[in-house]
Amino acid sequence: MAQVPVTILGIESSCDETAAAVVRLENGAASILSDIIWSQNAKHAPYGGIVPEIAARAHVEAADHAIKAAMDQAGVAFADLDAVAATAGPGLIGGVLVGLTAGKAIALAANKPFIAINHLEGHALSARLSRGCPYPFLLLLVSGGHCQLLAVEGLGHYKRYGATLDDAAGEAFDKAARVLGLGFPGGPALEKAAMGGDPKRYALPRPLLDRPTCDFSFAGLKSAVIRLAETEAPMDETAIRDAAASAQAAIADILADRTARAMDQFALAHEGEALRFVVAGGVAANQTIRTRLQNAAETRGFAMSAPPLRHCTDNAAMIALAGAERFLAGQRDDFSFAARPRWPLDEATAADS
Ligand code: KG4
Ligand code: ZN
Repeated sequence: MAQVPVTILGIESSCDETAAAVVRLENGAASILSDIIWSQNAKHAPYGGIVPEIAARAHVEAADHAIKAAMDQAGVAFADLDAVAATAGPGLIGGVLVGLTAGKAIALAANKPFIAINHLEGHALSARLSRGCPYPFLLLLVSGGHCQLLAVEGLGHYKRYGATLDDAAGEAFDKAARVLGLGFPGGPALEKAAMGGDPKRYALPRPLLDRPTCDFSFAGLKSAVIRLAETEAPMDETAIRDAAASAQAAIADILADRTARAMDQFALAHEGEALRFVVAGGVAANQTIRTRLQNAAETRGFAMSAPPLRHCTDNAAMIALAGAERFLAGQRDDFSFAARPRWPLDEATAADS
C-alpha cells in the first residue's frame, strides 16, 4: 500500500555540531530537503578538545539560525511539517538541552507532534538516508564518543555484540593527534600525517584481540602513544609520520578484528539471509579503516555500505529520518521528555553489562 509522505524537521546539538534538516520519507525512500551542519571546531581548536560550556553557548547562539536556514532551504513552513524531532541524548547535556528545548518549542507553537530521538539511533539509521539499506544489518558505530557493534534488526530493535570498555576509537585518534602535535580535530589530522609513514616502526598494543568477545579497549593504546611521544621527544617529521601511521594501524587492527568476529556472529544468526554491514560515525571517514573493514566484509560475504562522509559525522538529517520512521511507527513524545546524558541504544543488553 502506498504510504503518505511524511515531512520532519530534525534538530541535532549533542556534541559540537549545530545541525537542522528537513527530511521527507515516502514509501521507505528518504529525500533530504535541507541539511544544515554548522561545526564549532574553530571555537574548540584553541583548547585541543571540546569544551562542554563553550559548546552549549555556541548552540544557544546558532540553533535558531540553523533551524531557520533548514526551513528556508527546504522551502517549507512549520505548518507543512508532520512532526519535529530532536536529539534528546546521549551527549553533552548543555548542548542536548538547547536543541531539545528548541524542538519542543517549535512543536508546541506550530501544534505539531514532538519526537525525542536517541542520537545513536540517528547514526544507526544514517545509512538509510541513501537507498539500498534495508533491515537487518550489522552496524559498527565508531565515533568520538561511541564505539560499538550492533545488530540492527529493525527500528528500535538493536542487539549489542560489543562495545568499548573504556575510550572510543575517535578519542584514541584525538589523543594521539594531540600528543603528536597534530592539532584538532585529531582524526583527520592524524590520517593525513600517517600518509607515507611506516606503520611498523613503533610497536603499539592491540588489547583484547585474543578474547572471544566483540568488546573494544583503547585506553592502553592511548597511554602507549602518550609514553611514546614522551620517550621519543623531540620527534622529527618522519618520526611523527611513523608514530601516526603506527597508531592508526593499531586502531584499524582492533576495529577490523572485533568487526570480523561480530560478522561471524551475525551471519550465524541470519543464516540464509542477505548479509549487510554498515559503518557509521566520524571515524568511518578514515580510508585505512574503511579498506580493512571492506576486506573483512568481502571475505565473509557481507555487502558493506557507509553513509557519505557528511552523514558519517554528526548531522540532523539522520535525526529527521529516525523521527520519520518513529512517526510512522506511531511514536509521539510528551513535552516533559527530559534530556539524557546517557541513553544506551539497546537498553536490554546494556542493563546486564
Ligand atoms: O561522529 P562524530 O562527528 O562525533 C561524535 O563523536 O558523535 O565523530 C567525531 C570523531 C572525532 O574523534 C574525530 O577525530 C573522528 O571522529 N574522525 C576521524 C576522522 N574524521 C573524524 N578519525 C579518524 N580518521 C578520520 N579521517
Ligand atoms: Zn555522533
